Amino acid sequence: GRRQRFRRGLQAWYAVHQRDLPWRNIDDPYKVWISEIMLQQTVVAAVIPYFEKFMDRFPDVQTLAAAEEGEVLQYWEGLGYYSRARNIHKAARVITEERDGAFPRDVDGLQALPGIGRYTAGAICSFAYDQRAPIVEANTLRLYSRLIGLELDPRSKSGQEQLWEFAELILPRKAPGAFNQALMDLGSLVCTPQNPQCAECPVSACCEAFLTQRQQQIPVPKAR
Ligand code: ADE
Repeated sequence: GRRQRFRRGLQAWYAVHQRDLPWRNIDDPYKVWISEIMLQQTVVAAVIPYFEKFMDRFPDVQTLAAAEEGEVLQYWEGLGYYSRARNIHKAARVITEERDGAFPRDVDGLQALPGIGRYTAGAICSFAYDQRAPIVEANTLRLYSRLIGLELDPRSKSGQEQLWEFAELILPRKAPGAFNQALMDLGSLVCTPQNPQCAECPVSACCEAFLTQRQQQIPVPKAR
């Protein structure tokens, strides 16, 4: 069926075009967590050296929890949005002091930690645990909006509901983590904000925006 064709096209594209990033193909929830928090408001190229230095100094959650907050903030210096670093440090202490160093194994448990929202929880569950957890962040929000031809503001309540529902629907049972990573790369490399490269896209035949030539109008700008 249509979903099968979508998955096959995406997987074939990803096998050739996937980015080699230091937080890829790892099953350590700690590393996935730190990288995803860094990537929230910062571009990939800027995150890489920060991620590597952070992991050299704080290789695991116990080391991070044992450090002073001031030192963690030093390692964040230049990334901005310092509440991210403070929340990471707080969550590390919760994990070590209340959970004996064990990361929660599901989306709800992860979302109970400071600074972990629905996206970050889904990223940890799908990338680190290979669970069938959906993700919607900047890149996939744009991609999914175009695929389903979303006419609403994707950040509105109803827009968000439709996007999360779609994100869940398209996830395969087999290797959902790699599938989510493929969607993220397709969103950032091909389904770009301006002038998306639809001729290069493996799933344009399933894309509502492309089929109706609305890829420049979707996602629709915020209503004001
Ligand atoms: N942006 C947010 N998360 C990302 C990831 N895991 N890989 C690349 N870009 C991202």
